[in-house]
Amino acid sequence: EKGGYAHYMLKEIFEQPDSIWNTIRGRMDSDRGNSVLSGLNVQPRDLAELHRVLLIGCGTSLNAGLVGEYAIEDFAGIPAEVEQAAEFRYRNPIVGSKDLVLAISQSGETADTLAAVREAVDKGALVAGLVNVVGSTIARETGRGIYLHAGPEISVASTKAFTSQVSCLLMIALKFARAARMSRERGVRFVKEIEAIPDQVREVLKQNDHIAEIAENYIKAESAFYIGRGYMYPVALEGALKIKEISYIHAEAFHAAELKHGSIALLTEELPIIALVPDGPGKDKTLSNVAECRARGSKVLLVATEGDDEVNDYGDDIIRIPAAPLHAAVIPATVALQLFAYHVARLRGCPIDQPRNLAKSVTVE
Ligand code: F6R
Repeated sequence: EKGGYAHYMLKEIFEQPDSIWNTIRGRMDSDRGNSVLSGLNVQPRDLAELHRVLLIGCGTSLNAGLVGEYAIEDFAGIPAEVEQAAEFRYRNPIVGSKDLVLAISQSGETADTLAAVREAVDKGALVAGLVNVVGSTIARETGRGIYLHAGPEISVASTKAFTSQVSCLLMIALKFARAARMSRERGVRFVKEIEAIPDQVREVLKQNDHIAEIAENYIKAESAFYIGRGYMYPVALEGALKIKEISYIHAEAFHAAELKHGSIALLTEELPIIALVPDGPGKDKTLSNVAECRARGSKVLLVATEGDDEVNDYGDDIIRIPAAPLHAAVIPATVALQLFAYHVARLRGCPIDQPRNLAKSVTVE
């Protein structure tokens, strides 16, 4: 049932060109440069009234939410905020009928996310689910939303759910942007940018052997830092979460600019840096941060754009992703880090599909 793969996690990583396609298939209108998200049941007229989008979730789903926050603000110009679901529930949030709450959950059963959904419903917000499991509690209680169609995710460490969540959030950003100031022409390009993602993921998967070799250089680390800016900051968070879960290496993600405000004190030759520097806004700044780390002896793994030789002198190892605008590059960059975490864990002899202390769905608070 693992289809010839050693672990469900690896199988699900490799399924992503298809699972992402299943998420976007039939939901893109290339003529109108728009997405078709009927289950969301939000009309352009409603969007004009919208004050804010709140994205809630836990763990990997929370990291996906951060990408959604950036994309919705970036393209649609609607204020967006991401919030840990438990925090949302317990801090008596200011939320009402002009707010759209997007509840993001693979399982649709996460207790904290469900409780936040109920709170948002009670406050009169528009609440929609981004859920993978059909008929799950969150899907039912939100009543509107988008199913991910990523297929069953068995591995405890979430992979294909994240890339489908991000794909959905990009489609939502497109729809909201088109109801505002985004032109049809830009919309048509945006559709192409999303549709290019499955092939970009394929390019990353082709480097599986290369990534497995690189991983050998990092298996002795006790701790690792992941850094990125803008759209690459959520990727850093997700990369660090993956390696913690399955390889038991302590990892932290930082916004690249934040490192120098304290945590840089922890850098030693034993602590590697994984830096997200695909070509685009923020790359040069992150590279300067990388240089600061290297000056302290840290080993550096870069995730960079194919053919971008400017980065060569900054890293000991480099994983390449195809050229793409950063909102789309989130997905191939994350896949690179999923494979990296997988191989580090495998080489360390970890029980990848059943990491200690973890369960697939967290139905307690
Ligand atoms: C990480 C992981 C968890 C889940 C989190 C939310 O790999 O699997 O962090 O993402 O427990 O679960 P869902 O998305 O089912 O609400």
